[in-house]
Amino acid sequence: MLSLHRLTSGVLLAAKSPLSLSRRLNAFLTPYVCIPNDAREVGENLTVVPNFVSSEEENTLVDEIEKTLGRKKYEYDHWDNAIHGYRETEIASWRPCSEVIVQRVKKVSFAQSSKPLTHTHVLDLAEKGIIKPHIDSVKFCGPTIAGLSLLSTRVMRLESEQDATRDWIEVLLEQRSLYILRGPLRYNYTHAILDSTSSFKNNFIPNQRRISLIFREEPDK
Ligand code: OGA
Ligand code: MN
Repeated sequence: MLSLHRLTSGVLLAAKSPLSLSRRLNAFLTPYVCIPNDAREVGENLTVVPNFVSSEEENTLVDEIEKTLGRKKYEYDHWDNAIHGYRETEIASWRPCSEVIVQRVKKVSFAQSSKPLTHTHVLDLAEKGIIKPHIDSVKFCGPTIAGLSLLSTRVMRLESEQDATRDWIEVLLEQRSLYILRGPLRYNYTHAILDSTSSFKNNFIPNQRRISLIFREEPDK
């Protein structure tokens, strides 16, 4: 696993430099992020950690999640919902072998002073499932959102609320990677998980079933 300390301090350093944004991007982030010239706010507000969990750990989590979801059906009905083609659950109490992984995510993602929610949101997106652009409710969730992507690779697109056509960022969410969104990227940009028309740096990303674990913290008072 990459040392997150290195990753984070690299990003911080990069954000302070006056170089153009593509130069300012942390070297570790470059393969995973696609931005046009106008995108701002990347710097310390986005972290991507490839291979945050091993295949074995992925199997451990998926096994527990599938047992929890049981025979729940995928929901396709409500087109006005932000998420389409999915089933979901919340897990507060994990088996010990999963709990270790969950704690590792929380430790890396949240400041020591923050209060991560005890429930982890688990989202099982079908092959045809998508998440439309949205901003997580500020009533229920604080400034940091972390997501662990399992089973397949998808593309997340962030768009500035002020100028979505010029100010956007695409992030490659590889299978088993962790991403962390903070501050302005969490509050002032919508995020979406794209469908099968998506490509990343000219590589086609086929739609496959994806499970994500989303970790949030208590909202600001
Ligand atoms: C959400 C969401 C992103 C993901 O459930 O609000 O944006 O990575 N999920 O699944
Ligand atoms: Mn969201």
